[in-house]
Amino acid sequence: MAIERTFTMLKPGVLARRIAGEIISRIERKGFDIIGMKLMQITPELARQHYKEHEGKAFFDELISYITSGPVIAMVLEGDCAVKMLRLLCGSTKAEEAYPGTLRGDYAMHTGLNIIHASDSVESAQREIHLFFRPDELIGWKDGNNDWI
Ligand code: RTP
Ligand code: MG
Repeated sequence: MAIERTFTMLKPGVLARRIAGEIISRIERKGFDIIGMKLMQITPELARQHYKEHEGKAFFDELISYITSGPVIAMVLEGDCAVKMLRLLCGSTKAEEAYPGTLRGDYAMHTGLNIIHASDSVESAQREIHLFFRPDELIGWKDGNNDWI
């Protein structure tokens, strides 16, 4: 498997519901290395750039409004097949298709209020990491856990 980087964002409902620790804990427990992390209030401009593939869709305005409604926690994660691994941990986009045991399946009843964003490809991850983080904000590190996970 190849080591990849992916971008993730805990959406505003996470801080509002006081569940940030739980979600970060599940990301850590899976085995991702957190190599970038910051609390951000996203501007509408950044939100539109981030979700530009969805411009013009029926849910776009609602999505931008939700994502800018309060602070988010933006992270860069590293690990084997990190992009696909994180999408699996998140579960399906549609609330009614997200299985229990996944982050979306466990923490939201409505698609528009899901709790986490995850890059959908290595290319998207590169674009999104660049949008949210400067290179000097990413810190690579190693511990002994890769022998166990
Ligand atoms: P994300 O980008 O947030 O990680 O979600 P995703 O790849 O699983 O899904 P995507 O198609 O990129 O949709 C982005 C976000 O828009 C909201 N959405 N609402 N009402 C709807 O039909 C609908 N479809 C998508 C969700 O908040 C989704 O996470
Ligand atoms: Mg997406």
